Amino acid sequence: MILAPSILSADFGRLAAHCKEALDAGAQWLHLDVMDGHFVPNITFGAPVIEGLKPLKETSGCVLDVHLMIENPELYLSDFAKAGADIITVHAEACPHLHRTLQQIRDLGIKAGVALNPSTPISAIEEVLSDLDLVLVMSVNPGFGGQSFIPNSLSKISRIKKQLLEINSTALIEIDGGANAQNVKSIVDAGCDVVVAGNAVFKGNVAENVHQLFGAYQ
Ligand code: DX5
Ligand code: ZN
Repeated sequence: MILAPSILSADFGRLAAHCKEALDAGAQWLHLDVMDGHFVPNITFGAPVIEGLKPLKETSGCVLDVHLMIENPELYLSDFAKAGADIITVHAEACPHLHRTLQQIRDLGIKAGVALNPSTPISAIEEVLSDLDLVLVMSVNPGFGGQSFIPNSLSKISRIKKQLLEINSTALIEIDGGANAQNVKSIVDAGCDVVVAGNAVFKGNVAENVHQLFGAYQ
């Protein structure tokens, strides 16, 4: 399991240090939730905050996993690439020309992901499955941390996994929203590779939380 702590639940006053606690405890990625107040009803941060985490990436080797919950993401892809993104995930619902947007991400030398809202069917990405490095299954409605996991997401993961195997794709499946030590085993058993966790990592003792999450899926 790859654990991707979502910095949305971190202490922004000491962001790099808080993230380092999670990485030192074994988390491999950092999940960076960019929101524009249009695609989702919340505003978070842009490329400069991600750039501020670049030194941490260089010392720890962590992957900067950028989740764009914004309209017109194609306008900002190069900013996020320059800021240090290793993976950029756009929302299928925000991209009328999804194939082109994915190509733009790859042309920047970055891995390309697509996110699906809970109500968006898998068929929305059927035609681009072979162009993907990552499929992000939203297990809450995007916008806020600390929401409850939507149970149907487990079957969605399994169905996507099946389709990826059918085309011999090595794309990773990532779950985002409401993951915790109680449900992480069922998430991994359903076929998920990357688990995003905000509150379950950053609220309370970070090292203990990370160890609990890894301990719970075995
Ligand atoms: C929600 C974000 C998530 C969120 C997860 O829109 O995309 O990454 O921060 O937070 P938790 O794990 O607390 O649900
Ligand atoms: Zn996210």
